[in-house]
Amino acid sequence: MCGIVGYTGRKTAAPIIVNGLKKLEYRGYDSFGIATLGSGIEVCKHAGRISDNARSALHLNGTTGIGHTRWATHGAPNDANAHPHTDCKNRVAIVHNGIIENYADLKRQLIARGHRFLSETDTEVIAHLIEESYTGSLLSAVQQAVPVLQGSFALLVISPEEQGIIAARNASPLVIGMGDGEYFAASDMTPVVEYTERTIFLEDGDIASLSPDKLVIYHGKEPVNRPVELVDWSVEDTKKGGFAHYMLKEIYEQPQAFYNAIRALDTENLPGCAQKPASVAIVACGSSYHAGLIFKYLLEETCGIPARIEFASEFKYFPPPVSCLVVGITQSGETADTLTALKRAKSHNCPTIAITNVLGSTVSRIADSTIFMRAGPEISVAATKSFVAQLGVLMQMINLLSGEQFTKVLAHAHRAIEEVLLQDLSCAVLTCKQARSIFYVGRGPFYPVALEGALKMKEISYIHAEGYAAGELKHGPFALLSSETPVIAICMPDDTYGVMVANIKEIKARGAPVIALGIEGDSELADIVDIFIPLKRTHRFVQVLTSLVVLQLLAYYTAVALDRDVDKPRNLAKSVTIE
Ligand code: F6R
Repeated sequence: MCGIVGYTGRKTAAPIIVNGLKKLEYRGYDSFGIATLGSGIEVCKHAGRISDNARSALHLNGTTGIGHTRWATHGAPNDANAHPHTDCKNRVAIVHNGIIENYADLKRQLIARGHRFLSETDTEVIAHLIEESYTGSLLSAVQQAVPVLQGSFALLVISPEEQGIIAARNASPLVIGMGDGEYFAASDMTPVVEYTERTIFLEDGDIASLSPDKLVIYHGKEPVNRPVELVDWSVEDTKKGGFAHYMLKEIYEQPQAFYNAIRALDTENLPGCAQKPASVAIVACGSSYHAGLIFKYLLEETCGIPARIEFASEFKYFPPPVSCLVVGITQSGETADTLTALKRAKSHNCPTIAITNVLGSTVSRIADSTIFMRAGPEISVAATKSFVAQLGVLMQMINLLSGEQFTKVLAHAHRAIEEVLLQDLSCAVLTCKQARSIFYVGRGPFYPVALEGALKMKEISYIHAEGYAAGELKHGPFALLSSETPVIAICMPDDTYGVMVANIKEIKARGAPVIALGIEGDSELADIVDIFIPLKRTHRFVQVLTSLVVLQLLAYYTAVALDRDVDKPRNLAKSVTIE
């Protein structure tokens, strides 16, 4: 996915767009570009990150402009493939987030009609299509070009012949910010909240015409009204606020995120279909999948409701779900595989619920009901507070389904999360930063905690890390154990304790150092492992949260010790809008 931002008003556009692109860098950061309406179309675009090259773009003139930060899909991340793209005559410039699936055919036809292409991107065909239908009205040219496109797009288009921006959306997010004598357009609210809280989320098929004094939205060719929504994210939420990285700030925001998330759901607003489901299917990707797996364990053990979970990308390879509740978990609300899985569930008449953090995101238009977890913006690519907020919503759902057995536990959980933030992890960091490979093991709901700990470690420290159900390690991975492969074991005082201790002894016997998360005062465990990380004895749900937070911090401090780019790990983007 990529990030796009546009501004039209009375101020100089370039600094506002640069600022906005920095906020959107989590969506992709291999190249960037800006076009403004100065003397004609002025363009600045480069491989690399806007945050390292902001100055190069600030000289652009004009009070209307568009910008893009890229996560390459078609064509390498170089200057030529960076957006904006222009047509043959430099009459239009466009930025695009999404994928044009029929671009190869369109490109062949356009070349046959004499167009010259300067990039390998799918996006450039749009500039040439608009060029062909541009006979004095940019709006009408975009309205003619858009129906030819197959795929997903959020587009911003400018032309030196008109003061303003044309924006179009199909299956990629696009938000309009409404200022005083100025309008903004962006992939999400983060670049907008600094200027206005009034936003409009465009619908698929909408085309909007923005000029400093006027916004008109068309659906196809007909003008339509879309509701204005007040966004409760503050500008402070989008800043580092004195922390070294967004990730650390977001880890520290988790007590509040959990507190807010459990309040996102109560008996009044629990969607009807979730009130007594006979069975549940969960679909999600990455960290959200791990949150779903924790939910599956806890739901089955506390409510006895059978639950299955699938990677959203694999959901289509199984027989269609039959009359079960399908829960899609996606913090961004834009992950293509999760959207596809939910559409499939709907096409089989399954009731669907989405759990997301982003108001107006695509998933909320697909699912029958949406629960917003209210974690606030998450800028670091690695999911942390959105993960804990997902658990907040899911644990609250279990609480409501179980006749509110856990209300007190959940109400105090944020305090336990707060306490664990100060845990001393220096010895564990020292061991991990020297490792070539790290295994994480747990049982029951602590198995997905292990999976999530390993995912965090690998994505930000680049150390190979694998999560395993503790019982599985001896079925192959034991061959990899050595003094250079620490094993992190989550060993809690439940009915898995005895077998976990036995597994830890087997691991130790193969020469691997063991770092164990256990309950404070557990000297039996502390004596057999190399590093013992004590956690307070609390309720099982809370222990899932605290052990998870320790593993996030371990990954964070290890990545910092290795001098990694924590907030923007290589090759990644925050949500993946391609299947
Ligand atoms: C890992 C991470 C990813 C996302 C995954 C799904 O830290 O952030 O694994 O969890 O890409 O994203 P959403 O939740 O937006 O569907």
